[in-house]
Amino acid sequence: MLPWFQNGQFPLYLAPMARFTDIVFREFCKEQGADVMVTEFVQADALTREDPKLWETVDFTEAQRPMGVQIFGSNPESMANAARMLTDRLRPDFIDINFGCPADRVICMDAGSSMLRNPERLGQVTSAVVKAVPQTPVTVKIRTGWDDDNIVAKEVGRIAEGEGAQALAIHGRTKEQGYRGDANWPIIAEVANELTIPVIGNGNITCAADVIRIREQTNCAGLMIGRAALGYPWIFRDIKHYLKYGEVPEPPSIAERWETIIEYTRRIMARPFREKKHGDLRWMRPKFIALTKGMEGSRKIRGSLGQVNQIDDLERVAHAHIAQYGLVS
Ligand SMILES: Cc1cc2nc3c(=O)[nH]c(=O)nc-3n(C[C@H](O)[C@H](O)[C@H](O)COP(=O)(O)O)c2cc1C
Repeated sequence: MLPWFQNGQFPLYLAPMARFTDIVFREFCKEQGADVMVTEFVQADALTREDPKLWETVDFTEAQRPMGVQIFGSNPESMANAARMLTDRLRPDFIDINFGCPADRVICMDAGSSMLRNPERLGQVTSAVVKAVPQTPVTVKIRTGWDDDNIVAKEVGRIAEGEGAQALAIHGRTKEQGYRGDANWPIIAEVANELTIPVIGNGNITCAADVIRIREQTNCAGLMIGRAALGYPWIFRDIKHYLKYGEVPEPPSIAERWETIIEYTRRIMARPFREKKHGDLRWMRPKFIALTKGMEGSRKIRGSLGQVNQIDDLERVAHAHIAQYGLVS
């Protein structure tokens, strides 16, 4: 059994989110209590082509362990090669296989959630990766199925377990659903009852009450939090504090939240490949919008965030926002 599930622990994972859960963002989540984290997904073939930018995507610090590196692809051999390269270089605590991504560019490669339509291939890929890295645990992340008429989580979960996966994360939506609608927790619960390996439930978890309910009502061994952590990495702290003391701690002030966003931006810009951008923050605008989501007045600053070029611009938006909303008690 993976160590983070042992002795009744109930780990909270930070969900992998491409373009958002980078190495610096993960630092903040870890400080706030995320138990297990997974890198954004990388394409197996691209890793074997030695693209240095991809190696930056899968980089992590020792403090972030236990860390998984997530890969996607449809070719068992190249997935096995990628897993070997990653374990040789980075020694992650586990390799995670993505069988859930609904993006067209991934589906076109017959990878991600496309694999849910091809359970045989899904089994071959899992088996090849498990055999390629005998010293490193392999886990799998899926959706419930392709669409409502093809819910395959149970079948696919059994296959993954049979091929040696050591945990299964289920995002409780179908490929067709994308990120809309409710997560299908009854299906997640069924799979968790069915399998011997730990099942990690995922989909729309936003507060401690969700965690308590799911823990009570299902056999999930842990939970994974995605979008709710994007603008609010404190969610891990809040949930853990609530589980321990029965109350939610004071939220960070708007000024503290901005301090974190600006610190995050500075640290990101100091990372490899970013320093060459000469402080140009335009590529980070979607991140700023995600990071401020849920803050009071955040809708009103969306326009100005969409015009940020340099750190001074970001600081100006922050000061104006704090002046308007940050002093309200
Ligand atoms: C912007 C974004 C990027 C994502 N990238 C990945 C990814 O790289 N790998 C993956 O397995 N899931 C990815 N996901 C899915 C999340 O890990 C998670 O399964 C999903 O957001 C549902 O959880 P939530 O309702 O808590 O957000 C992504 C989701 C979002 C919103």
